[in-house]
Amino acid sequence: MNKESFVIEGLAGRKSLKGTVKIAGAKNAALKAMAAAVLFDAPVQLNNIPDTEDVHVMSEILEKLGAQVVWKQNALTIDPTSITSTIIDPKLASVMRASVVLTGPLLARFSKASFPAPGGCVIGARPIDQFIKGYEEMGATISEADCNYTIEMPDIRYQRTEIRIHFDKKTVGGTETLMMAAVLGNGTVTLTNCAMEPEIVNVAEWLNECGANIQGVGTETITIIGTRGKLLSPKQPYVAIPDRIEAGSYLILGALCAENLTIEDCRPDHLALLIDMLTNSGVPIEISNHEASGASIKSADQSGQIINGSLTIKGNTKPNSAFKSFDVITKEYPGFPTDLQAQIVTYLTQVAGKSVVTENIFEGRFKYVSDLQRMGAKLELKDSKEVQIVGPTELLKEHMDSHQHENGDVGPHLNAHDIRAGFAIVMAALVGKGTFTVNNTYLIDRGYEKLEERLTALGANVKRTKTDVQSI
Ligand code: EPU
Repeated sequence: MNKESFVIEGLAGRKSLKGTVKIAGAKNAALKAMAAAVLFDAPVQLNNIPDTEDVHVMSEILEKLGAQVVWKQNALTIDPTSITSTIIDPKLASVMRASVVLTGPLLARFSKASFPAPGGCVIGARPIDQFIKGYEEMGATISEADCNYTIEMPDIRYQRTEIRIHFDKKTVGGTETLMMAAVLGNGTVTLTNCAMEPEIVNVAEWLNECGANIQGVGTETITIIGTRGKLLSPKQPYVAIPDRIEAGSYLILGALCAENLTIEDCRPDHLALLIDMLTNSGVPIEISNHEASGASIKSADQSGQIINGSLTIKGNTKPNSAFKSFDVITKEYPGFPTDLQAQIVTYLTQVAGKSVVTENIFEGRFKYVSDLQRMGAKLELKDSKEVQIVGPTELLKEHMDSHQHENGDVGPHLNAHDIRAGFAIVMAALVGKGTFTVNNTYLIDRGYEKLEERLTALGANVKRTKTDVQSI
């Protein structure tokens, strides 16, 4: 964990950023494809992998299990044939909740997995009851000692042949993990009330190309017909779909800070709701979808069509105060993503009118609100799920300095509270007036590839520095 900060020169409302940003592969799909490598009988090739901290942590976890991982310019080769351990390293797992998805493939292949109570970003309680319930219905026994769980699954030969598991709550990680746990099984596992995020579809389609039989992915009911112990073969390399959250983050940033900005290599269809909201608010957005050529990103939507495209903000000359406010409720895909909630709240502080943003997925995802308030934004937290915003307000370093002690003695800096809130606060600093320091950049690095380099290429003044100990 580095102790670095971003020092950001605010644009004071000017829309001077311009250029093109190329979207990386989806972190939340890539991490699951990396975990799925455990299911294979030979080294797998993973392409379009984002160069983010979480990907490197997952590589290390796989290496500790015994896999050989080679990273080369946004591509990974993972050789799972040398895996000897089924114990997910507690120290590494404590910094990344996504490590828990590894239990699925480990159980499928080795009938055993041990992992610590999951960590990850500090957003709410984040229980794993749905994983545990699913494993128990698959016949597993689970023991807990010293905050470590050990799960043992019956040998494939003794597994039941018809298993139905209903998720009481939609869960992305739960859906992916149980799906992967069932791939090599003896019978059929039907999962209902599944999450439908495109990242799940992306990974499942690749597994199917390599010998798995997963049906219904992208709908609420997924059926996995097990291979009866036959490992998957790397017939196709995996290619991560474009990161819709990264694309959405830059789209919101562009709306506030760029007259002209092109977001290339993204999937506009995965961002339909956000694009509609911003367009109705007054942001001039052009969408271009095109058929991807064989060599470029391959990813099928539910109709089987391959779509890849770009989003362009063009002629965005009106002041942000000319944009209209709107309300947002976060929901599972295809609803508004929780991972864009902090960015959209920041947007709404700059536009005219009142808005209400309701967070339905995670508790504790409003920690950044106090940072925006210190900058001068008019936000009121109603409870752990709702924030009310009145815009437009100027975001000022001067305001922070004169109200430094209002939210406790928090010092002259801003904070990245989680990956997405981190981006939102960087965006707030860019919109604002003055020079801002954002601490805890390692959280931003977990999910955004080279953020300061990309922003600098667009004309922003963002410098990475060692965190000044006085400001922690
Ligand atoms: N939940 C339970 N029980 C469970 C599992 C989940 O109650 O057994 C709850 C969670 O506490 C949460 C809700 O269900 O309130 C949704 O959690 P989910 O399992 O869907 O989230 P996740 O798999 O842990 C992934 C992404 C998150 C993203 C969410 C929602 C990865 C690695 N993480 O998390 O991404 O916010 O889905 O879309 O895929 C990020 O990238 O910054 C990030 C946090």
